[in-house]
Amino acid sequence: MPSFPKPKIPDAVVPPPLRKPGKPGSGGTPKGQAPSDLKETPERKTAGDKLLDVGKEAPIDALGWVDQRLAASGFLTGMLFRKVPKGTNWFYTLGSATLFAFIVQAVTGVFLAMFYTPSATQAYSSIAHINNEVPLGQLVHGMHKWGSSVMVILIFLHMGRTFFFGAYKYPRELNWVIGVVLLILTMTMAFTGYLLPFDQRSFWASIVGININGTGPVVGPYLSDFLRAGPELGATTLSRFYAIHMLLVPGAIIALIGAHMYLVVKLGTTAPPWVKAERPKVAAPVSQLDAGANGNGSVNGNRVNGAPVDGEGNGGSAL
Ligand code: HEM
Repeated sequence: MPSFPKPKIPDAVVPPPLRKPGKPGSGGTPKGQAPSDLKETPERKTAGDKLLDVGKEAPIDALGWVDQRLAASGFLTGMLFRKVPKGTNWFYTLGSATLFAFIVQAVTGVFLAMFYTPSATQAYSSIAHINNEVPLGQLVHGMHKWGSSVMVILIFLHMGRTFFFGAYKYPRELNWVIGVVLLILTMTMAFTGYLLPFDQRSFWASIVGININGTGPVVGPYLSDFLRAGPELGATTLSRFYAIHMLLVPGAIIALIGAHMYLVVKLGTTAPPWVKAERPKVAAPVSQLDAGANGNGSVNGNRVNGAPVDGEGNGGSAL
């Protein structure tokens, strides 16, 4: 096949750093004049262009202003680009999935609270109003109702993952304890939320739940009295459940999730139990290298200072 000469790429389309420097005296630039790309191009910007430039830079300038005062970028970089152990897999997403479920519950809950009336005479009709008349009301109510079950399922799966991967062991015991409190609070949310529609099912189911609480040792009877807020389940019970569901428990959950996440970032996550610690890359001391070279010692890669280094480690956590 005939070969064609390579076409010359015009200088104008080659970015200046990649251009071949011309021979001295050549290059078409008249002597004593700088090449055209080095010359200052007289940029005449209109006031509108300048305003546009300022507008384009504004968000990043504002972020920089906040960052200078909070020094947040260092923390965020450390948190988002932290190393995770080998073997990290899909099971590690269960905690974030639980967090996402909680956020969905919080957002949909805010919209429901705009239309819900926590009164024994109006609670049922306000829920009917949300479902039948408020735009997207049925969707938001459905998301909140089904989302509560999703969150309970996810929190149990996440707890199972941390248990079976041994993540409750040193130094993460405190995070496990915080997790247990989060589990109890999540169950409390599901229990107190169940009464809010104040229909037949939620009324009788709550009586059963309160009675079950009353069977607990020592604190049981006090707990059921506290929850019932009176001799019979009624208007005061609904107000109490609403306050617990809307204010008390969500506040505690947000604070505890903050502490939980802080510890996850600080301690890192646990490697799966089947991933063994890698053998440390220990440099042999110079004295031993000398000895090995003289034929008096053994530095064959298996032993350093008498300790085997070719094993799979001791199986400890790859912290
Ligand atoms: C609202 C509830 C909860 C949220 C939002 C949450 C969130 C998270 C997230 C995002 C992580 C890091 C990623 C992961 O390992 O999945 C994590 C780790 C952890 N969570 Fe939770 N969690 C919750 C409840 C629980 C519960 C109920 C327990 C146990 C009783 C628990 C114990 C732990 C432990 C021990 C770790 C460290 C895991 C490791 O080092 O590998 N968490 N959590």
